[in-house]
Amino acid sequence: MTDNVLAEQVGYYRSRAAEYDATAYGDVDAARTRIARLVAAMAPRGRVLELACGTGLWTEALAREADSVLAVDAAPETLAIARERAPSNVTFAGADIFGYAPGERFDVVFFSAWLSHVPDERFAEFWRLVGSWLTGGGRVLFIDEHTDERPKEAYVSDGIVERRLNDGRTYRIVKHFIDPAALRERLHTLGWTCTVTRDGDDWIVGTATRAGATPDVSVIRG
Ligand SMILES: C[S@@+](CC[C@H](N)C(=O)[O-])C[C@H]1O[C@@H](n2cnc3c(N)ncnc32)[C@H](O)[C@@H]1O
Repeated sequence: MTDNVLAEQVGYYRSRAAEYDATAYGDVDAARTRIARLVAAMAPRGRVLELACGTGLWTEALAREADSVLAVDAAPETLAIARERAPSNVTFAGADIFGYAPGERFDVVFFSAWLSHVPDERFAEFWRLVGSWLTGGGRVLFIDEHTDERPKEAYVSDGIVERRLNDGRTYRIVKHFIDPAALRERLHTLGWTCTVTRDGDDWIVGTATRAGATPDVSVIRG
């Protein structure tokens, strides 16, 4: 069941690509300003892996802070938009995150509006993968939506919502809004140390490091 929904979720974002920025962010200039502020505060230095990069609004900001960014998404249509925006220190890969094998490790793994689309039963697998992509002192940085935003969705079953495109087509996707305390606890049981703060009413800003690892924030931009 969830595998079907995961495939439908990719189909949804493929079809939504052209309308994504307007429907997700509204005022794109204001979104860019907010994104730039948040990314600068997170200081994603060194080599960055961005998961589910979408149309690349976060990629642009990451690329200003990092040495280089490898941005991954399963939807060719969103990647095409992101490619147009990206500076020269960004490369892209079209891939399903759950089957991805970058073949190298990163100082930072970043994802915005992705964790809430990970099914409960694949949560531990996802964090194992992320751990395998990080250097020893590497950090995970993420943005997502606070659980207070839950009422805006139309839930069809536990963790699955129905979304509608501008042309009326509907899709089922996974959506688990973030409860900061519950997330910290769940990650703790998987061996991660996690901090979650709030930015506005809607977004959460998260960091995670493997428990016992010393976060390496000293990687200096080349
Ligand atoms: C909510 S959008 C987030 C886009 C961007 N990070 C942002 O915050 O604006 C979710 C993204 O996840 C991508 N996606 C969905 N399922 C995926 C999968 N299994 N593997 C890789 N990308 C996936 C979609 O194509 C979409 O671009």
